[in-house]
Amino acid sequence: MAIERTLSIIKPDAVEKNKIGAITALIEQAGLEVKAMRMTHLSKAQAEGFYAEHKGRGFFDELVEFMTRSPVVLMCLEGEGAISKYRATMGATDPAKAEEGTIRKAFGSNIGENACHGSDSPESAAREVSYFFPEIR
Ligand code: CMP
Repeated sequence: MAIERTLSIIKPDAVEKNKIGAITALIEQAGLEVKAMRMTHLSKAQAEGFYAEHKGRGFFDELVEFMTRSPVVLMCLEGEGAISKYRATMGATDPAKAEEGTIRKAFGSNIGENACHGSDSPESAAREVSYFFPEIR
């Protein structure tokens, strides 16, 4: 499988629970390499732009409100099959359906406050990495 890059966000709920290190350890244990990392408090415009594909969905306003509630940790991850590998490491979007040992099972609260985000396709990964890390090529 090819070496890929993917965008990870440790979301406000996990940062509030002081789980940045625990989540980063799971990422590293999965064999993913942190190529870039930045803690920031997203503006409304940044969150709306990032989740633009979900605009119009019932949960969009709630999602933007949540993502701007407190700081997040943005990471560009790299590795063999990084996009699917990170999605497996995160577990299902709904923490109640996530497998034991995954980030969302361990640290997520519900489908909205689910601890982390990861790109879902090569196209999304390219857009999302350049959205937050335009300096990476
Ligand atoms: P994420 O991987 O960041 O991509 C979109 C996010 O929308 C998703 O994780 C969830 O946190 C959120 N989401 C998806 N479905 C719902 C829902 N039904 N209610 C609230 N938030 C949702």
